[in-house]
Amino acid sequence: MIILKGNKTIEIDRNTLSSYIDKYTSVVIDLGTGDGKYVLKNAQSNKNTLYIGIDPSEKQLKVSSRDIQRKKINNAILAVGSIESLPPELKNTADKIVINLPWGTLLESISKPIDENINKIIELMKVGAALEIIFGYSSFLEKNETRRLGLNDMSLEYINNILIPRYKSLGLNINKCEEFNNNENGINTTWMKKLLYLRNKHNIRERNIYYLSFSKNN
Ligand SMILES: C[S@@+](CC[C@H](N)C(=O)[O-])C[C@H]1O[C@@H](n2cnc3c(N)ncnc32)[C@H](O)[C@@H]1O
Repeated sequence: MIILKGNKTIEIDRNTLSSYIDKYTSVVIDLGTGDGKYVLKNAQSNKNTLYIGIDPSEKQLKVSSRDIQRKKINNAILAVGSIESLPPELKNTADKIVINLPWGTLLESISKPIDENINKIIELMKVGAALEIIFGYSSFLEKNETRRLGLNDMSLEYINNILIPRYKSLGLNINKCEEFNNNENGINTTWMKKLLYLRNKHNIRERNIYYLSFSKNN
């Protein structure tokens, strides 16, 4: 798989990856990590966990990859990839996968959902592993993207009636499904900060943010 080391990209094979993974008690994958801040911050406060961020944008990944190298953070890896093309080396490695505020075809894949792509995520998960998703798009505020990708309105009704049963049919049990309120700021990513700031500043209620947590049952 192709990972960033500072400003450069290098390729590592499954054996090299395994030698990293073996040093830690758990592995968390952040799919659609963007600038990788989630990986950077969590790796600093949870030294026994290996954090792996994946994003198609090498430019975005470089924002944190330079810091990871400079601060010599060994338990953080940023890799180039997408939901359509996930590194095969990561199969069956994740104790947890997080997808925070997805966009583009990542959002399309998990919100329609596209079974083939959900299965690609499931392949990375160990049995019992968790999948945590935070949806924050608004079909009212993002009309163009909604139309372009043919997205549905995101609501608790849609999540409960369509998404959860489909995820369940693919082998994922729902553990939690809830709406974020303004005071909850536990998920510390660049886009979460932006959305919460704008939502509070303009008192915009059209953008609901939903948190979903699943686990892989076999
Ligand atoms: C709104 S940003 C959120 C970034 C980060 N998770 C955060 O919360 O700050 C959406 C991210 O999804 C990524 N993305 C778009 N299409 C993707 C795909 N097909 N597979 C993986 N990531 C994708 C984008 O590159 C972008 O970094």
